[in-house]
Amino acid sequence: MKTFLFLKSAIIVSCILVIAACTSPKTKINYPPTDLSNAALIPKPISMTPTHSAFGLDSTTVILTSATQDFENVGQFLAKKLRARLDLNLPVNASEGEAAERTIMIHQTDSLNMDSPEAYELHISNDSVLLSARTAAGAFRGIQTLRQLIPEQSNDTLAPQPMWLIPSGKIEDAPNFTYRGAMLDVARHFFTVEEVKKYIDLLAYYKYNVFHMHLTDDQGWRLEIKSWPKLTEIGAQTEVGGGPGGFYTQEEFKELVAYAAERHMQLIPEVDMPGHTNAACFAYPILDGTGKKIKNYTGTRVGFSTFDARKDTVYAFLDDVVREIAAISPSPYFHIGGDESHATKKADYIYFVEKVEEIVQRHGKRMVGWNEIAQADISSSTVAQLWNEPHNALIAAENGSKIILSPATKTYLDMQYDTRSKHGLHWAAYIPVDDAYNWDPETFVEGLPRESILGIEAPLWSETISNSAELEYLAFPRAIGYAELGWTPSEQRNWEDYKKRLVRQQPFLDSNKVNYYRSERIEWEAP
Ligand code: ACM
Repeated sequence: MKTFLFLKSAIIVSCILVIAACTSPKTKINYPPTDLSNAALIPKPISMTPTHSAFGLDSTTVILTSATQDFENVGQFLAKKLRARLDLNLPVNASEGEAAERTIMIHQTDSLNMDSPEAYELHISNDSVLLSARTAAGAFRGIQTLRQLIPEQSNDTLAPQPMWLIPSGKIEDAPNFTYRGAMLDVARHFFTVEEVKKYIDLLAYYKYNVFHMHLTDDQGWRLEIKSWPKLTEIGAQTEVGGGPGGFYTQEEFKELVAYAAERHMQLIPEVDMPGHTNAACFAYPILDGTGKKIKNYTGTRVGFSTFDARKDTVYAFLDDVVREIAAISPSPYFHIGGDESHATKKADYIYFVEKVEEIVQRHGKRMVGWNEIAQADISSSTVAQLWNEPHNALIAAENGSKIILSPATKTYLDMQYDTRSKHGLHWAAYIPVDDAYNWDPETFVEGLPRESILGIEAPLWSETISNSAELEYLAFPRAIGYAELGWTPSEQRNWEDYKKRLVRQQPFLDSNKVNYYRSERIEWEAP
């Protein structure tokens, strides 16, 4: 019976392949469905070997995984996405699955050619998809590749039920950088849990593995701290432009951490200090180091606020804040901001950063800070995030620290595309879609050794945006290009080739109701 079913399915797939290759009746863009080398994958995988046939994904397909819970969860994630997108209800590890004629097997193995924990291999043949990875994170990245290989249109001409043809062949893949992040500023404008989740879910599709939340700034404090309740009772009630602001309860923050973790992404919390602290000082004036009367702030200036770096109360406060957040934040990192502290004396700034590093380490975390922190005597386990001062990144690297590259002129998602952009700023640059893609993180800072680069991150500051549509206008499509800069080595990146693959993200972006910017530099299909 099984042999018969197999033959039947092989015949159906073959017939569909012939018809699809000749006519493709429903597809607008006519790519041969069986040529893996033509697939519009972003980020581009390290190696693809086509075998010019296809796996027919249909309702008889089953998902099987290695027995551990984390691999089963990856299978469930795939099943959930296929249900939502294709209306296919595929069982995961169901007992009758063993006898199925078509399988997607997600398999743990220690023998892959590449040694990154996020490496994976995909072997796609007529009757099976075999995804092998060392870790569940690797399997999860491979699942994104598989999702991207599924065509928009099914071929339902010959098969008894709709069938989606996935091109056959072998993919071997692993990331160039271990850190591939995006940051969202939820302080200048507040974003709801659902809005943040939507952004995380889109980033996961492009293999991001870090989501950094800029949780506090002059205009608002956005995370409940139980031992200092006025931070949110008072400090969260404003935002740029005077809107109502908002904050996440610790339970909601945990929900976001878990949502990111389900996508094998870590969530890094940032509490920006000693500057960018007007909201905290408005809630608790005892923290203030300016000596001025503190009012709430709804404008967009920077550099006017500071904690009092010489007051014990400030460090007692910070010990509570870091302790409460560290307890609900599994990421090994804690980001202390440290940028633009123009109202803090230099000696006080250095003293402050060194004291806070001790607090962060005492609570079991590695400190991350914007490039200014390199002025202090930071430990080599601390990570510096370059945004505007290459010399400080070089100092930090000489000191043994790893560097996250977020140069404002290249990676700031809040920079306008051009003079007609509806949202965003342009103090660092206009960043059109091609400029965002056409640079090399490995050579961007002259003299910075490759081994010192942890990875790249694209920050999105929210002075000019306050909802998902505005966020997506600035983030997409540029965030898709940063995903490739983080994953694919520079020798394999090419704007002309990328541009064609980017156009073919349109069905995904449209079906997910993403308000991407239709840059004229991309030949989009008519809507
Ligand atoms: C920054 O843009 N102030 C890090």
